[in-house]
Amino acid sequence: MLSLSPDTDRLDGAPSRDRQPPLLRLRGLSKVYGQLTAVQPLDLDIDSRDFVAMLGPSGCGKTTLLRMIGGFVAPTTGTIEIAGNDVTALGPERRPTNMVFQGYGLFPHMNVAQNIGYGLRLQKMPKGEIDARVGETIALVQLADLANRGIDQLSGGQQQRVALARALVMRPKVLLLDEPLAALDLKLRQAMQEELRRIHHEIGGTFVFVTHDQSEALGLANRIAVMRDGRLEQVGTAQEIYASPETRFVSTFIGEANLLPGRRSNGTVILAAGPQFSEAGVDGEISVVVRPENLLALAPGETAEMVLDGEVRDVVYLGSHVKYKVAVRGGSEMIVHARPDRMPASRAGEKMRIGWLRRHHRIVSA
Ligand SMILES: Nc1ncnc2c1ncn2[C@@H]1O[C@H](COP(=O)(O)OP(=O)(O)O)[C@@H](O)[C@H]1O
Ligand SMILES: [Mg+2]
Repeated sequence: MLSLSPDTDRLDGAPSRDRQPPLLRLRGLSKVYGQLTAVQPLDLDIDSRDFVAMLGPSGCGKTTLLRMIGGFVAPTTGTIEIAGNDVTALGPERRPTNMVFQGYGLFPHMNVAQNIGYGLRLQKMPKGEIDARVGETIALVQLADLANRGIDQLSGGQQQRVALARALVMRPKVLLLDEPLAALDLKLRQAMQEELRRIHHEIGGTFVFVTHDQSEALGLANRIAVMRDGRLEQVGTAQEIYASPETRFVSTFIGEANLLPGRRSNGTVILAAGPQFSEAGVDGEISVVVRPENLLALAPGETAEMVLDGEVRDVVYLGSHVKYKVAVRGGSEMIVHARPDRMPASRAGEKMRIGWLRRHHRIVSA
């Protein structure tokens, strides 16, 4: 069995989060380019079996952070520890990391197998061993039939697999992937996401995957680190990030969110849309965040913990659910996903009340 990090256990289901020091430990890590701070000092721990997505909009510092971990960019401040060793001062070739670059960077004059074996030949590994390792890895990415093909005779998706195999063959403890699927069309991208999950499951190890695509992050990773303006906004499981966003930015960047503006003073929240309720937290301007699937389209006589009067602006029947746009007091327009067998209103202009349970909302600072 090919294993990324022979000294760690295999992933046999949901990773447990007890014990063991983190495999990758970043402390106070930052990067400044002249006037521009690409990455603000940040701390992050990543476990040995994590598949982490670094998620954020273009320019937020994802590539810079990944390159610091891989040793391609020297940090301005901070330290990088891998498996208990400080690697901050080491070059890329001396770190137990390997990186798959966005443009693949394959050698056009070598065939598939030669590309994959390149790093091992550099290390002067005996030929028999190289052949065995390449054979194992080429099977893992399902390219065995194409071992002797030239790179220019491969599709984009196949080139992607070669790039992946070339990194995996080195058996890094940490595999770094910088938007590796960005150049592929949607279908191939989805297929490669499944492939990556399978490969991670088979060989274990730590994958750090950079993307600006929230659905890719949700679909791939068991942990998501949301970045914005060089900062980590929130780190957690996909469920934590989606169900309990800690900031307004996170709530809108991942999934669809309804935001109701309001104010909190002395623990009392007053929404511009009308309702008041008590909920402890920091005083000031706030927004209440509710996901569309947690809003209820209330039939006459029905009620809920939180209720707003509204007027339907748009109704779209989508098969699995009905999507309402509902205007409420204070100027907000709410998106409600209702069950198609419960449609209390059927056209724009009708009055409709909407409601939700308090445990389904989160309060973030405005
Ligand atoms: N070598 C560099 N020199 C100067 N500025 C850079 C360099 N690399 C990145 N930057 C800047 O740092 C910021 C973060 O870039 P990057 O890490 O590439 O973001 P992302 O990968 O999230 O799109 C951007 O403003 C970018 O222009
Ligand atoms: Mg980038």
